[in-house]
Amino acid sequence: MASKPLTAFFILYSFLGYIPSFGVILRTTDKIVWANEFQPVELTCLIESISTNNPRIEWKKIKNGIPSYVYFQNKISEHRAQLIQPANLLILNTSRSDTAEYRCEVAAIDDHKHFDEILISLAVRVKPVVPRCSVPLAVTVGTSSELRCLENEGFPASQYRWFRNNEELPQDPKSSLKFLNSTYTINSDTGSLKFRRVRKEDAGEYFCQAKNEAGNAQCPAQPMEVYDVDIVGIFLKALAGLAGFIIVMFGIYHAHKHGCFSSGKDHTGTNYKLPAQDNGVDYTEADEGHFRHKSSFII
Ligand SMILES: *[C@@H]1O[C@H](CO)[C@@H](O)[C@H](O)[C@H]1NC(C)=O
Ligand SMILES: *[C@@H]1O[C@H](CO)[C@@H](O)[C@H](O)[C@H]1NC(C)=O
Repeated sequence: MASKPLTAFFILYSFLGYIPSFGVILRTTDKIVWANEFQPVELTCLIESISTNNPRIEWKKIKNGIPSYVYFQNKISEHRAQLIQPANLLILNTSRSDTAEYRCEVAAIDDHKHFDEILISLAVRVKPVVPRCSVPLAVTVGTSSELRCLENEGFPASQYRWFRNNEELPQDPKSSLKFLNSTYTINSDTGSLKFRRVRKEDAGEYFCQAKNEAGNAQCPAQPMEVYDVDIVGIFLKALAGLAGFIIVMFGIYHAHKHGCFSSGKDHTGTNYKLPAQDNGVDYTEADEGHFRHKSSFII
């Protein structure tokens, strides 16, 4: 009902060749923009409607809540950037420090609505650097083992993949016939590769790759050797140790006995124990300690 007179009003104005501008209106093609570091990127600030001839255009960068001028009084404050018609901001060589919010502001004094602004968020992707990898040189069959891989430059944060002898380890070993019996788990967010129980077949040259949308990097391959527990060797060593122990004990027993006899003979009673027994005890301790050390090292 009310629209009829309004339409008539517009038609009348159109006939007269004059359409009133209601003000400046901005638009952008992307409110969230991703760019790769060292590549150019254009933030669009399109003017949909305006009737002022020389609008005032400003670009501000807002990082951690603090605004700073990028384009102000027809000057660009950043040598890597340009203003492109009508009001787009072109950054020629983005750097990781450009990740921020950018606000395009247009003031048009001759327009009824004489101000508009638009906020664009820019995120600059950064390639991963070569990750630091740690691979244990030697592990024993049946024990657990963890291989680690990490880099901190990539943005967004890198995802990690592990390779053995140039072949990628599937995320789930059960998904591949070749890795079916392996007990590893991969955490692709943290870069950890954990074996619950290492098998002989897990030995090989390992490397890891860090990857994100901007690129990837990998560490050099490092060997991991897997050793069997030498059961026969341990048994023989234990047996030799036990035999040695018995011989020493036998020796002490004899020495002691001998000492007793001699003390019985000369009645001095002060020095008879010291030389023989102390020597004997020393030997026992040394041998026992040696044996214990050896066995704990192997097992
Ligand atoms: C971009 O900037 C980096 C340093 O920030 C520089 O090393 C590189 O040469 C620049 N690239 C171009 C194309 O200007
Ligand atoms: C996995 O283990 C099973 C049973 O021990 C064996 O038969 C099979 O050959 C193994 N597969 C691989 C790929 O080692």
